[in-house]
Amino acid sequence: MLKVGVLASGRGSNLQSIIDSIKAGVLKAEIKIVITDKAAAKALDRAEKYNIANSYINPKIYENKSDFEQAMIDLLEEHKVDLVVMAGFMRILSPYFVKHYRNRVMNIHPSLLPSFTGLHAQKQALDYGVKVAGCTVHFADEGMDTGPIILQATVPVMDDDTEETLSQRILEEEHRIYPKAIKLFSEGRLEVKDGKVLIINN
Ligand code: GAR
Repeated sequence: MLKVGVLASGRGSNLQSIIDSIKAGVLKAEIKIVITDKAAAKALDRAEKYNIANSYINPKIYENKSDFEQAMIDLLEEHKVDLVVMAGFMRILSPYFVKHYRNRVMNIHPSLLPSFTGLHAQKQALDYGVKVAGCTVHFADEGMDTGPIILQATVPVMDDDTEETLSQRILEEEHRIYPKAIKLFSEGRLEVKDGKVLIINN
């Protein structure tokens, strides 16, 4: 069974969608460890509730980013994780981490990448005036919200949308496609070729 490690910084609703999908028997995987970089991350409470091992790693106690990331890698390795899932993890991974988990670390972002990377992607979309928005699951590389795209989903943008209403509409799609992407990985159906993801038997 696929062993997953989840990295999160906050609310953890995407973590919850993955837990729900596993509980429902749709996704055959096991979350071995949840790691956060924020002491107050709700993701920790969610992990606790389902008896999933969890750990807050305080980046401030490390001298540099490499040492912080090494602490995460040590924990992920201890739990023999096959796939690292960033679920609202608001940090850019270093080339070292990415190399260690090349094509084995996923991220979700609330925009149709490559548009609107970084913070407040939904507000960026509204400010730009796009008519269609959405979310993207991709293999993470060392850039900000970059790397081979696995799945995307679109939602319409309404004239009266606020950042909150659009974010909510996108979030529902995030919760649908993240477990789906992990399922494809668990079935060995994701192949990365020339920087692009091919879905086998799609
Ligand atoms: C989600 O909308 C996710 O796409 C976004 O943070 C939110 C986390 O929510 N991630 C990024 O913006 C990454 N650049 P959650 O903690 O409820 O899953």
